Amino acid sequence: MLQLIITASLMKIQAQNLPQLGKSSVKEVIAALTLEEKARLVVGTGMSFEIPDSILKKMPGGKSPFDNNSGATAVGSSKNIINGCAGTTGGVERLGIPQTVVADGPAGLRISPTRKNDSKTYYCTAFPVGTSLASSWNKNMVYKLGQAFGNEIHEYGVDVILGPGMNIHRNPLCGRNFEYYSEDPLVTGKIAASIVNGIQSQGVGTSIKHFAANNQETNRNSVNTIVSERALREIYLEGFRIAVEESNPWTVMSSYNLVNGTFTSESNDLLTKILRDDWKFKGIVMTDWFGGKNAVAQMIAGNDLLMPGANQMDEIIKAVKDGTLDPKVLDKNVERMLNYILQTPRFKGYKFSNTPDLKAHALIARNAATEGMVLLKNENASLPLDKNSRKVATFGTTTIEMVIGGTGSGDVNEAYTVSLVEGLKNANLTADESLISTYQEYIKTARAKQTKPKNPLAAMMGVKEPVDEMPVDEALAAKMAEQNDIALITIGRNSGEGQDRNVDNDFNLSETEKALINTVTQAFHAKGKKAVVVLNIGGVIETASWKTIPDAILLAWQPGQEAGNAIVDILTGKANPSGKLATTFPVAYADVPSANNFPGIELPDNEPKAEGMMSFMRGKPAKVVYEDGIYVGYRYYNTVSKPVSYEFGYGMSYSNFIYSNLKLSSAKFNDKVKVTIDIKNTGKVAGMEVAQLYLSAPAKILVKPESELKGFGKTKLLKPGESETVTFEITSRELASFDTKSSSWVAEAGKYEVKIGASVKDIKLKGSFDLDKSLTVKKESVALVPTENIKELKFGK
Ligand code: BGC
Repeated sequence: MLQLIITASLMKIQAQNLPQLGKSSVKEVIAALTLEEKARLVVGTGMSFEIPDSILKKMPGGKSPFDNNSGATAVGSSKNIINGCAGTTGGVERLGIPQTVVADGPAGLRISPTRKNDSKTYYCTAFPVGTSLASSWNKNMVYKLGQAFGNEIHEYGVDVILGPGMNIHRNPLCGRNFEYYSEDPLVTGKIAASIVNGIQSQGVGTSIKHFAANNQETNRNSVNTIVSERALREIYLEGFRIAVEESNPWTVMSSYNLVNGTFTSESNDLLTKILRDDWKFKGIVMTDWFGGKNAVAQMIAGNDLLMPGANQMDEIIKAVKDGTLDPKVLDKNVERMLNYILQTPRFKGYKFSNTPDLKAHALIARNAATEGMVLLKNENASLPLDKNSRKVATFGTTTIEMVIGGTGSGDVNEAYTVSLVEGLKNANLTADESLISTYQEYIKTARAKQTKPKNPLAAMMGVKEPVDEMPVDEALAAKMAEQNDIALITIGRNSGEGQDRNVDNDFNLSETEKALINTVTQAFHAKGKKAVVVLNIGGVIETASWKTIPDAILLAWQPGQEAGNAIVDILTGKANPSGKLATTFPVAYADVPSANNFPGIELPDNEPKAEGMMSFMRGKPAKVVYEDGIYVGYRYYNTVSKPVSYEFGYGMSYSNFIYSNLKLSSAKFNDKVKVTIDIKNTGKVAGMEVAQLYLSAPAKILVKPESELKGFGKTKLLKPGESETVTFEITSRELASFDTKSSSWVAEAGKYEVKIGASVKDIKLKGSFDLDKSLTVKKESVALVPTENIKELKFGK
């Protein structure tokens, strides 16, 4: 007995003497860690995931790669601190280092909504998708949404949200574009910084992803992106730089792909030279789930955390022992991990409630959804619906099964979704019941006939595949036109992780969809009634061939759980549309500058087949060469004067706005130029306007796009007759382009034209200033030099 008491007391004294995270310095804690404990801190604790039998059968050996029996060693004690989270970091209890929890995703927290033997529910708010948020161009609104989002993360006991997603919309077919913001890096960076600042104001972290040049899903785990240093710096990295410098995200997620020959998670150039040396990033980098191959190379590159964690601990321990991994490198990774953990709610012992205010957050989601909607067409002021348009015929399967967000890790487990039909009813409009029943019957039968899931990953996650559109004949259309006041035709699209979209029947409307728009519009026009198309889509589609047909087109995007209510807010005029396109709608897919090199080519597979863990995810070796260079989106269409269907920055309002009084603080550039304009609402209803500042720079040394977005501002809700002054600031950074020869940002001497537009084409005011002498604005590391010659597009102005 006495012996026991003595031993226990000795242990207690020992524990008391051990350094403790938060009480002792990080250096002391590191000194007390064993090699195995250090490895535990840089490797996540594994993943548990239930896969339906039908999918399991197709996996190597018919086994799940996610559980311990498949050869994927799950390390650490708990993988499931919060049910349904995406991962957990390892802890070391004796030194006071807790595990932390990370969870998806960009449009809302993704955790399991129900738990075994627990009657409580854990639903989360499905906010509008990233593309919708960016289309609001409203940094303040996005910041406030971030606060609500962050509160939800905090109250559900999660430390880091795996978002925002902020890859550039290089090509409309990328299956994950809905998660991302824009084809433009400034919009991307500013909207990302706003949401990160909002979320992190609540004491939880973010993981901006996927770093970098991850612009497709085809062969996403194996594709080698070959891209010039200039296109990287100006287009693909610039949004990340802005987010890092303006919002200090706690973490960055490296992507699956390779850039110029190296997996991003193994790239010292990307994760150390660019991210840390050039941009001064202070947080941790984590891999995308099972990303990269070589754990030691990842540590050396500065990828501090391998997620979700598999059998890499042994590799790391062995490498330190045999001298292939310098212990100082591992200590640096661990130091960053500890500094990260110190900030987390879990370390601080936050007692989360599990009861965030979902009602308040739903209102925020609804308002955000309306702000992101873009009114593309409104002939003869067809919208808002007039007082006599009470009876509505709702066409399209997605009026009933709205697509509120995309599939994969970007999907949210929300408590409910409001369909367009429900939204109409909530606003006391009548939706034609017989038409609704026809659609319901059709969906039931069509779903029963669906055999092969189009997107296996989505199916694995239990997502319902949308059914093909229902053909509508003239008789049905005529009957509906007879008994209703107006037609709403919804065209829906869903896509997500693991798969890119197709040109046929996806980017382009199917024949059934085209016929639907035609037949219904004609039938309603025959009765002197109107037809409105609602686009419930996550990415760009073809509109040029059919847009002349309906009276109005509302681009609703994938608007989150309040979808139907938000759309009806716009249709009825309760909210005035104020969204604008952050991505161009081209005339045809062939016009897209990357159409010829998306998604690249598959290469001969000389490597021995990867066995076991996640081999099914590896894809075929592939490469994609970014021959479009810096000419992405409007930078291309504008420079080569290619007509588009709806241009970047475009969006209508129920009001009119007049732009006037352009003032530049100076005609000579000296450090910075302040630009102000006045915007007046000359319409009959209150509204908000997004003003955009484009700059055309001299192009004697470097070729340049016709103009580039360098600032934007959204007015408050202006009453009829009310004005607001919008201010922009141009610093030397906005003047500069990336000169690969000197690896620096260079502002060329000459005349800079300032164009203030309601879109990239609708330029309202012009001015200019001069820069007397060329400036080197910033020198950057030489990094990510392409391994092969790229035949890049190069257009002079
Ligand atoms: C996705 C990430 C996501 C992660 C965890 C990956 O497949 O690419 O965006 O955060 O899974 O779920």
